[in-house]
Amino acid sequence: MSEEALSIIDKRTQATYEIPICDGTIRAMDLRKIKTGPDDFGLMTYDPAFMNTSSCRSGITFIDGDKGILRYRGYPIEQLAGKCTFLEVAYLILFGELPTEPQLTEWVDQITHHTMLHETSKRFLEGFRWNAHPMGMLVSTVAALSTVYPEAKQVLDPDSRKLQIMRLIGKMPTIAAYTYRHTHGFPYIYPDNDLSYTENFMNMLWRMMEPKYQANPVIAKALDILFILHADHEQNCSANAMRAVASSQADPFLSIAAAAAALSGPLHGGANEEVLKMLDVIGSKSNIPAYIEKVKAGQFKLMGFGHRIYKNYDPRANVIKWAADSVFEVTGKNPKLEIALELERIALEDEYFIKRKLYPNVDFYSGIMYQAMGFSPEIFTVLFAIPRTAGWLAQWQEMITDPEQKIARPRQIYTGPMVRDFVPIEQRGVPAAV
Ligand code: CMC
Repeated sequence: MSEEALSIIDKRTQATYEIPICDGTIRAMDLRKIKTGPDDFGLMTYDPAFMNTSSCRSGITFIDGDKGILRYRGYPIEQLAGKCTFLEVAYLILFGELPTEPQLTEWVDQITHHTMLHETSKRFLEGFRWNAHPMGMLVSTVAALSTVYPEAKQVLDPDSRKLQIMRLIGKMPTIAAYTYRHTHGFPYIYPDNDLSYTENFMNMLWRMMEPKYQANPVIAKALDILFILHADHEQNCSANAMRAVASSQADPFLSIAAAAAALSGPLHGGANEEVLKMLDVIGSKSNIPAYIEKVKAGQFKLMGFGHRIYKNYDPRANVIKWAADSVFEVTGKNPKLEIALELERIALEDEYFIKRKLYPNVDFYSGIMYQAMGFSPEIFTVLFAIPRTAGWLAQWQEMITDPEQKIARPRQIYTGPMVRDFVPIEQRGVPAAV
């Protein structure tokens, strides 16, 4: 018997059970032996929204929500954001160690040479309506890449996985930029291999008639920091979608599309766009108290506030605040910043938010910064999806190589009718109003 164990008395049968505790958890499958009789299926747990369930072992990202700590592979986010490039961090997240100089050179070269989109994918994008939301276009186009690379189905082959990882990290900024160009009716700009990852993205977004795009180095650096902050966040809604879909051995393009779809929702990555809309609705500092009252009355949520895990502060929001200073020096302050700072001040002094431990999350300030940097709100969530692709792929690799993982398949508590005889249509009577 394990030294750490939980003793359970089943009061239905008076039987006692010893359930081992390992890493602060019990295995849900160990509860299955708790039965009222041989015909009983056995005890299960009920955990809607996975409030208290570990679905995997993971060595990628560590979060201590009470202390506001976020680390990738053990390295504090503040150090990585201050000292690394995004591609260096992507390598760390994907392969477990920071790259040596030759490894980084090779990695950057590989990613740079996977940025082109097949011309058919470009034509696929052209089929969208001019006002299609960039996230919808991104999700669909990534999924469509599955048809361009049918060999990506070889998910158990490590070499094939590595190739798809490089393709996805390389092509995400290209797809993202093309969704923007499509919305604005601008011609697509091909990748430029002389530029860094973020500079090339800016080139594909914003280059017009100039023969060579010159990225503002302050904006490119700030974007790189934002990419680092968004690279992974352990078992959030989209990472969970990635793992669940990929657990059926669907190819990574389709699984990334599913993860990006999960990200698009306003409670997850879609919140950054919603924050900007909210600040527009509030309009001026004098309207904040009335807006907060409506939030407290449950009319709507304060977007960019609250987190399932962080109950103290979101360390990513802190890094954004220091990175924002350099951006605002170049661009001038975003007028919405004043409203956001005042909104934060008022909310953090309010009993409603204090009691529920609701603090600004990463999305509260990222949108303001993105807007100051020249990005339009409809592509904010796309800006989240580009770096998070590294995290989704790391979660996928870890899941696919974990011998304990199988196809994801939760149980349910069935609440419908147990069994009924079929009723022919002419005998069904008038149903209650639907
Ligand atoms: N504004 C007002 N009330 C809130 C908010 C908010 N933003 N967030 C949570 N609450 C309240 C909620 O109504 C509940 O109150 P009560 O106990 O009276 O019912 C209490 O706080 C606990 O909230 P919850 O909904 O049980 O918390 P959750 O862990 O299920 O949800 C969340 C987390 C992020 C979905 C939620 O806080 C939220 O909807 N925030 C706004 C959207 C947002 O900013 N999302 C971005 C998250 S960070 C980026 C990312 O990683 O995706």
